[in-house]
Amino acid sequence: MTSGVITRTLDTGIHLRVVPASEFGSAAADLVQTMLRRKPNAVIGFPTGSTPLPMYQDLLRRQRQGTLDLTQMRAVMLDDYLGATGDDPVSFHNWLKREFFDPAGVGSDRLLRMPTDPEGIEEACQQYEERLQRLGGVDLQLLGLGLNGHIGFNEPGAAVDSRTHVVPLTATTTVANAAYWDSSRKVPEEGVTMGVGTILGARAIGLLVNGARKADILRSTLLGPIGPDVPASFLRNVADVQVIADQEAAALLP
Ligand code: PGA
Repeated sequence: MTSGVITRTLDTGIHLRVVPASEFGSAAADLVQTMLRRKPNAVIGFPTGSTPLPMYQDLLRRQRQGTLDLTQMRAVMLDDYLGATGDDPVSFHNWLKREFFDPAGVGSDRLLRMPTDPEGIEEACQQYEERLQRLGGVDLQLLGLGLNGHIGFNEPGAAVDSRTHVVPLTATTTVANAAYWDSSRKVPEEGVTMGVGTILGARAIGLLVNGARKADILRSTLLGPIGPDVPASFLRNVADVQVIADQEAAALLP
């Protein structure tokens, strides 16, 4: 085991792996690699944000070195902004394409894209769920953790059985995400996200959490009450959940 790495199983059944910040991306990439070794054409759900960026970089490095085969992997999206169509700079689809899917060679034939066109969005969300089913469900869903405990765009108050749907975003989330693009683009106020129920239906889940500012919410997620006030706490209701945290994010865990 690498020095400084702590692995624990919490009494909720969640596996927690705490690593130095410099190993965060590689620890997260290990989740993907382990899954693809077992099932080369696994369906994997990918998040956007600063949290998973080091994982994407590590996966691309492994692919370049020939130690990781992404040629059969199928990818699905966790969330996006309503109205983020075309080359909109806020589009999570464009972000993922740029940072991971294009350099990894994952084309649109192996990607299930979250619908973002406001016209007919409710029907499109239902179709998204049907397409997930047709793919055989999600083998591994990767998630970031919002400062308010959101997973995907399931903000506090989210129902445990919700499916893919449109959600109004909270001020915490719009402010946190405004940093991702220049101020000429108004921050979207609605997102489209897999529901909590969709996420919990994945056969395995990896929650990625880094940085001191996430320490409080990680503690609430793992040790506070399970309920809609902290949507991520619902992860404690399902069997196969791995939390990868860096030491700063894990600082408030006993
Ligand atoms: P972050 O977002 O990676 O930008 O901190 C995580 C999230 O909100 O899911």
